[in-house]
Amino acid sequence: MRIGVLTGGGDCPGLNAVIRAVVVTGGRLHGDVAVGYLDGWRGVMERRSVPLEPGRVEDLLTLGGTILGSSRTNPFATEGGPGIATDNLAGDGIDALVAIGGDDTLGVAERLGALGVCAVGVPKTIDNDLSGTEVTFGFHTAVETATEAIDRLRTTAESHHRVIVCEVMGRHVGWIATYAGIAGGADEILVPEVPFEVAEVCDRIKQRHERGGYSSVLVVSEGALPRPGPDLDSAKAATTPRTIDQFGHAQLGGIGAWLATEVERRTGYESRHTTLGHIQRGGTPTAYDRVLATRFGVEAVAAVHDGTFGKMVALKAGRIVRVPLEEAVGRPKSLDLQLLTEVAAPFFG
Ligand code: F6P
Repeated sequence: MRIGVLTGGGDCPGLNAVIRAVVVTGGRLHGDVAVGYLDGWRGVMERRSVPLEPGRVEDLLTLGGTILGSSRTNPFATEGGPGIATDNLAGDGIDALVAIGGDDTLGVAERLGALGVCAVGVPKTIDNDLSGTEVTFGFHTAVETATEAIDRLRTTAESHHRVIVCEVMGRHVGWIATYAGIAGGADEILVPEVPFEVAEVCDRIKQRHERGGYSSVLVVSEGALPRPGPDLDSAKAATTPRTIDQFGHAQLGGIGAWLATEVERRTGYESRHTTLGHIQRGGTPTAYDRVLATRFGVEAVAAVHDGTFGKMVALKAGRIVRVPLEEAVGRPKSLDLQLLTEVAAPFFG
């Protein structure tokens, strides 16, 4: 078979490991020929692709990023775009397409499926916000990176008796903040799913410092905001999104800086902030993500050869399964709040 492969949306560690798995297992087990589209759906729209021979991908397991490049191009945002995409795939003789991405990329795969494209999805995102799978590859690596950063922030916070606010990614879900916050022993974790009260956060910090704590490390998700009121207005003014992508997502960031300023103003404790940003997306995947990405890629090839299209490979109860794409892209998987309230919160303040 002739299999097209693309990586779309924000990159994350493990993308290359999936590409390697698809190319190697497809080639060795089935004699498939793989073609890599460049820069996500943009490559399909512009008919830009490269041949993916096994020799070209064998060293990819540990490499971060994606050798195919990525973009947030949405064929459905362009007049006639879906027709261009289907025509180009047909023109390239693509029998099946393995789309590696998050809800946006896989949402396009699902919609093109209705137009006759034989697509299988592979769930990718550091945010871990994709429904239908317990975990996406890339999340584990991002959490490791954020945890290491929190550990480092802790020692300098202690030296200077400061409050340090660490802003992490995650868009509108608090998975990275909560996992990294628990792992790093955060004194406060603020997530988009639970609007926070600045006065309460400051009270807990004060209590901690009055008990003899010399420093505090707060982890805030980039999408977290205060409860409605003047603080919300002020935070929104300070974090106004700069750009909106073709899927309607605003670029987030700035809540950590705003919060650090507020904490210092209200408590009198010297405060700093650090935004981890794209450091969380770069670099080599952890062993866990290398294994998960490889399992996903192997299963995607199996699904192609079973003729099981319109599905996403997924992790459920430790096993790799196939779920309908519409289950994955319908709505984001928000944080399991029990983790925050029962596992993380007892350690706050
Ligand atoms: O979805 C992954 C993600 O890293 C989000 O956590 C973040 O909000 C966004 O992508 C950043 O996107 P960009 O790299 O386009 O600024």
